[in-house]
Amino acid sequence: AAVVEHTFVVSQVNMTHLCKETLVTVVNGQLPGPAIEVTEGDSVAVLLVNKSPYNITIHWHGVKQWLNCWADGVPMITQRPILPNHNFTYRFNVVGQEGTLWWHAHVPFLRATVHGALIIRPRHGAVSYPFPKPDMEVPIIIGDWWQLDLPQVYRSMKNDSFDFFASGSTINGKLGDLFNCSGVPEVGYVLDVVPGKTYLLRVINAGLFSEFYLKIAAHKFTVVAADANYVSPYTTDVIAIAPGETVDALVVANATPGRYYMVALPNQAPLPDTQTPEFTTRGMVQYRVNHSSMTNGAAALRSRRGAKEEENDEGPSGDVALAPQMPDKHDTITSFYFHSNLTSLYHLTVPQQVDENLFLVLGLGSACRNGQQSCNIRGKNNESITVATMNSVSFQHPTANLPLLEAHYYHSGLIDVVQELPDGPPRAFNFTDKALIPFGPKELRLEPSSKATAMRRFQHGAVVDIVFQSSAILQGDSNPMHLHGHDMFLLAEGLGNYNAAKDVERYNLVNPPVKNTVLVPNLGWAAVRFVANNPGVWFVHCHYEFHLAMGMAAVFLVEDGPTVDTSLPPPPSNFETYRDRDENLLP
Ligand code: C2O
Repeated sequence: AAVVEHTFVVSQVNMTHLCKETLVTVVNGQLPGPAIEVTEGDSVAVLLVNKSPYNITIHWHGVKQWLNCWADGVPMITQRPILPNHNFTYRFNVVGQEGTLWWHAHVPFLRATVHGALIIRPRHGAVSYPFPKPDMEVPIIIGDWWQLDLPQVYRSMKNDSFDFFASGSTINGKLGDLFNCSGVPEVGYVLDVVPGKTYLLRVINAGLFSEFYLKIAAHKFTVVAADANYVSPYTTDVIAIAPGETVDALVVANATPGRYYMVALPNQAPLPDTQTPEFTTRGMVQYRVNHSSMTNGAAALRSRRGAKEEENDEGPSGDVALAPQMPDKHDTITSFYFHSNLTSLYHLTVPQQVDENLFLVLGLGSACRNGQQSCNIRGKNNESITVATMNSVSFQHPTANLPLLEAHYYHSGLIDVVQELPDGPPRAFNFTDKALIPFGPKELRLEPSSKATAMRRFQHGAVVDIVFQSSAILQGDSNPMHLHGHDMFLLAEGLGNYNAAKDVERYNLVNPPVKNTVLVPNLGWAAVRFVANNPGVWFVHCHYEFHLAMGMAAVFLVEDGPTVDTSLPPPPSNFETYRDRDENLLP
C-alpha cells in the first residue's frame, strides 16, 4: 500500500462566468479541486495550506475513518478550524471501500467551491471490478455557480434572510451553452468518446441545494455503485443524485456517432421560476470520428430523431446535437424510483437484533435568536429566527472553544452535560399532509423549537435503527441525510407517514443498498440501520446546505470498545489540542 500525498492550497481566485468576475475560494486555483486517486488500502496525507481569509476544515465525505475520528474534519466537532495562514496535515487510510467518494470544506457554504473527487480503485486493479472493465474513467462533478460572497450569504441567513440564489449549475466546473454572456454561449463540459468504448462515470453531487437529474441523449447508464458500495447493475436513462451522494455508472458509446447533450437538471432549485434557463447545465458527449463518417452519422441521426428526443443546435459542421427529454423539474417520483431500485450487489449480513431505535422528524421551526433562553417564538418576529430541526431541536455548534471530540477524549465530564437528542418529536402530528401545514395568513407559522448541541450516545457495537421522517413544512426541499464515520443499510423508504406496524415488514434485510447519504423522499421517510462500532464523535446532518447551516444536525457519540483496537487512540502528534493551546481556559 502506498502513501498518496497532496498539498491543498486554499486561496481566493477570480473566475469569470456570465459576464461577471467573481472571487471564489478554491483549492490549488482550480474548480473542481484536485482529484485524490488511491488504491484500496492506501494511506492519504493531505497538507492543507490555508491562504484564504476563512477558517477551513476538509471532510473526506464517506471515508469511514476507522479509529481515526480526529481526521474527520468537522469544525468544533472533531477539530479546531484551520485559521487563515495556518497549515494542517490530514492523514487517513482508505480501507474496505471501493468506488467514488469526495472531499469538501465543512464550513458553511464554502463547499460550493472547495471540493473534489476521491477515487478508490480495487487493490488488484480494474480487472477486479464486479462489472465489465471500462476503457476509461471520468469524474462528473455536478455543482452550482454562485455570484455571491458565500460566507456573507451564511451571515445573512443567520439573520433570517433567505433570498439567495445560485446563478447556475455546473458539470465539472463548466456551465454550458444554455448560459450566456452578452449572447455568447458558455462552453460546457465536453466528453470525447470513441465509438464502442465503455466509460465509467463517477458522478458526484457537490451542489449546495438541489438533487439533480442527469441524462445523456440516446444513451443509457448502468449504475454499478453508489456511495462507494457496489450495487446490482441497474440500467436506466436517468440518474437521480442528491447533494452528498455519489453514483458510478457505465455508459457505452454505442449510439450513432455524433454529438449528444449530457444534461444536469436541478429538481429542487431554490430559485424563482422566472429565472431562466432553469439552471439546466448542458455538457456534451462527442464522438471522435473522421469527417466522412461524421457526416453519415449526422444524417443517420437526423433520420432517427425520435418523438422523445428533441432536436437542438446545428453544430458548425451541420451536425445536430441531440438533447435528452428531461423529467419535469418538480418531479420527485423519478428520484423516488431511482433510489428505491438500488440494491446491494452482495447478500449482506444485516444484524437483526436492534439495540436502539430513533425516530427523527425533519422540519423547520422557530427558536430564540442568539442564545436567549426564552422569547416569543410563535411565528416570525424580532426575538426569534427560523431554524431547521430534527425532533424540534436545532443543532447549535459547541460555543465553548473546545471541540466535542476533545471534550469526549480528555474531559468526559464536560460532554456528559450535553443535551440528549430527543427520540421522537415532542408531539405527534400528521407529518406529510400538506393541508395540515401550519401556514398563517401571510407566512409560515413555525413549530416552536429549541437550539442545543444535541447528542446521542451509543455503546460500542450497538445496532441502531433510524427512521428519518420528512415533514410537509419542508415543502419541496430535499433531505439527503449524511452520517459520518459509518455506512448505513437503507432498509426501506416510502411516501407519507412511517407506520412501524406495516413498514417494518418491508425492510430489505438481504441486499439493502449501503449508503453514507440517504435521500429521504419528499413527503416520505427512509429507514436505515447501522452498527455504531467506530468510536468517536460523528456528525449526522442534512446535506442540503441551508438545512445544515440552520441546524438540521446532531452528533452521535460512539463509545470505545472493550479492547485497545476498538478504542479511539489519542490525537495524532500534529494535532493541536486545547491542552496545547491554552490549558488555563478550561472551566
Ligand atoms: Cu459531506 Cu458532514 O458532510
